[in-house]
Amino acid sequence: MDVTQQSFLVEGEAAMVAFGQALGRASEGEATIFLIGNLGMGKTTLSRGVLRSFGHAGAVKSPTYTLVEPYELDAGLVYHFDLYRLGDPEELEYLGIRDYFSAPAVRLVEWPERGAAILPTPDLKITIEKAGEGRLINCHAMQARGMAMLEALHRYTEQPAENES
Ligand SMILES: Nc1ncnc2c1ncn2[C@@H]1O[C@H](COP(=O)(O)OP(=O)(O)O)[C@@H](O)[C@H]1O
Ligand SMILES: [Mg+2]
Repeated sequence: MDVTQQSFLVEGEAAMVAFGQALGRASEGEATIFLIGNLGMGKTTLSRGVLRSFGHAGAVKSPTYTLVEPYELDAGLVYHFDLYRLGDPEELEYLGIRDYFSAPAVRLVEWPERGAAILPTPDLKITIEKAGEGRLINCHAMQARGMAMLEALHRYTEQPAENES
């Protein structure tokens, strides 16, 4: 099985949350995940699933104005970024981006394109696009950890769509 890239067809909000939960478990508490896709594609919904797998039961809002929302949960630390309103990647330095990326944590980054020059290479790059009423999720492993996550994800998800690569 080629684990560098894998696609999943995810239909409906509940399935998206479940996918996020599987991703959260596959991360084992340490991962940097880029979430790429237009407004309304489900980046925050997927993030909610990841957070749920770490024990967060409440709502999740994109931290559009604060850029990052930290969640200190019993099962681990999760940083949820939304860089949609980031004017200049340099602003990430003022935000103390290094600290966020040095601690053992799961880092979910919506709109990583906006911070391209500053952000480190992620373990997984996830792109989300529309597929009928659902979403096609394409996961691209960028490092060994991302590959291991895809292997684990494959075990967790019941019906992965056919591998496109
Ligand atoms: N896999 C999916 N299939 C169908 N609808 C989805 C899916 N994932 C999310 N949605 C819906 O898409 C809408 C936008 O989701 P959201 O997570 O806020 O997107 P984003 O953070 O990418 O802007 C929500 O109404 C959500 O219920
Ligand atoms: Mg969002």
